Amino acid sequence: MAGPPKLMSLNGRLVAFDDARIHMLTPAFKYGACAFEGLRGYRDAARDEMHVFRLAEHLERLHFSMHVMRFDDHPGDAEMIGALRELVQGNDIRGDCHIRLMVWVDGDGEQTATGPIGWGIAAIPREADPRVREGIHVAVSSWTRIADNAMPPRIKVTANYNNGRLSGLQAKADGYGGVILLTASGHVSETPGACVFLVREGRLLTPAHADDILESITRATVLDLARQELGIEAEERSIARTELYAAQEAFLCGSGNEIQPILSVDRLKLGDGTVGPVTRRVQQAYFDAVRGGLPGRRSWLTPMWNTETAR
Ligand SMILES: Cc1ncc(COP(=O)(O)O)c(C=O)c1O
Repeated sequence: MAGPPKLMSLNGRLVAFDDARIHMLTPAFKYGACAFEGLRGYRDAARDEMHVFRLAEHLERLHFSMHVMRFDDHPGDAEMIGALRELVQGNDIRGDCHIRLMVWVDGDGEQTATGPIGWGIAAIPREADPRVREGIHVAVSSWTRIADNAMPPRIKVTANYNNGRLSGLQAKADGYGGVILLTASGHVSETPGACVFLVREGRLLTPAHADDILESITRATVLDLARQELGIEAEERSIARTELYAAQEAFLCGSGNEIQPILSVDRLKLGDGTVGPVTRRVQQAYFDAVRGGLPGRRSWLTPMWNTETAR
């Protein structure tokens, strides 16, 4: 595994990795007042390029998170994309990578401070995750998913992630590779960092947005590819816990996790306990899309080196 990247981007400037610091008294640190996005860049071998997948949609969601958190003036898209390109080129990243884009309340204000605003970007090379090929065994958590009227999962802020952390720590201690949280009313919600799909009778099922999930860009991508490219029906609705056990296949999806097959839930095998055919078809379509292999979906890719080939 490569070490840390040489450069980070802080407030629109390139800085050495060790200099990307914020003060312990910032509301970002004290209260979790930090909106963020996790994105992926993929190598485009045909063009000797690296492009970021669905950057526009990630920026739109970041602006929504900042709007709900009432952040003061924050950087615009052009500024953030410019800083990202500069960072990728400064670190000479031409292969697959993970990108973290963060905007926070800086200074030393109290809980309702809305500025000044700080922002930063990390871009780190990332190798293929074996769990995408091999699948994972998950548990249903005894922790409940945070609710929209308390800590809305629809906005992507760091403070929300303590809910996922608690469930993840419990699942790890119990020997599982992942965990699914239920809403307060007992419906399937999501995992600490990804959305969930089930396969029943050859159709895809996924929890509705109102079931306390992040409005995932990968979930939207999977729905689009299933319906438009694969001719697979897909339904968005509330899902009962025991439907997890009744599914023939399941997978989780997210920018970071990509498409990870779920082989069992609470040690109950799904189907024959191996990666199922529908999951494989979705994976194939997804990886074609992110690597530029679907001509109709190239508008989802933003090149990082050569702006001439953009869109
Ligand atoms: C809680 C949560 N749910 C779902 C997702 C998947 O969202 P996306 O597909 O936009 O990466 C993520 C990852 O960002 C997440 O953190």
